[in-house]
Amino acid sequence: MNETLRIQQSHRSIRSYKNDPVSDAMLDQIIAAAHQAPTSMNAQEISLIVVRDAERRARIAELAGGQAWIAQAPVFIAIAIDFHKTGLGVRKAGQAQIIHESMEGFGVAAVDAGIVLGTLITATESLGLGIVPIGGIRRDPQGMINLLQLPPLTFPLVGLCIGHIKDNAPLKPRMDIQTFRHDEHYDASGYTTAIDAYDVEIMDYWQKLGRSDGVTWSSNLGSFYRQVYFPQVKPVAAMQGLLNDK
Ligand SMILES: Cc1cc2nc3c(=O)[nH]c(=O)nc-3n(C[C@H](O)[C@H](O)[C@H](O)COP(=O)(O)O)c2cc1C
Repeated sequence: MNETLRIQQSHRSIRSYKNDPVSDAMLDQIIAAAHQAPTSMNAQEISLIVVRDAERRARIAELAGGQAWIAQAPVFIAIAIDFHKTGLGVRKAGQAQIIHESMEGFGVAAVDAGIVLGTLITATESLGLGIVPIGGIRRDPQGMINLLQLPPLTFPLVGLCIGHIKDNAPLKPRMDIQTFRHDEHYDASGYTTAIDAYDVEIMDYWQKLGRSDGVTWSSNLGSFYRQVYFPQVKPVAAMQGLLNDK
């Protein structure tokens, strides 16, 4: 197995960081890797906002619902959909941009943001640093927009904590790979059995960690997916001009 595959197959989210700063040289390399990530139509409709200031990270930790690791890790990167940038190019071409009002626009930007996130993760982990992605910035998107001074046609989609690892985390098991990889055609016939087995496995995992608050995969998803857990996304995105109605 080569080094890149080893890093990717050893991924785990880190929620305990040392105080040590992340050097400019490391951060520049990490961001340069993500800068070269592909985007649909080469639109480059993603922007990163790097937050190193401790007070601002503490505020983001609050906005994300009290996630202490955001305040602890020395670097936070917010990944924003940026149809403000593309709009300037479209206007230069004498056209009026409407893609930001469509499901296609939000979907394609979310895919491209995900590729940027994944690239940042692999680059960071390759330097021996830890990460945890933060979807919690969508809990109060208007608060993030205000803090980061994001203009209309932009939206803070996901963030990433980066820092030197204090307490490492064990590898979290995944559901059987047959529920993930489908050869030639989709096949859900093994799902129920695999979910049952995974619920048992994840409880073992919590038990080994001494986490008495750990619940099964099914219960965890049940508690989130029974509702729109970040209800501010739709109205705030609409206020930003990302209407999602076409
Ligand atoms: C898009 C995305 C958003 C996430 N948001 C959060 C978050 O807000 N807070 C957090 O502690 N973990 C967050 N996570 C981390 C997941 O909980 C974690 O990846 C998952 O439980 C699997 O664990 P592992 O990364 O250690 O393998 C997020 C992960 C992704 C991919």
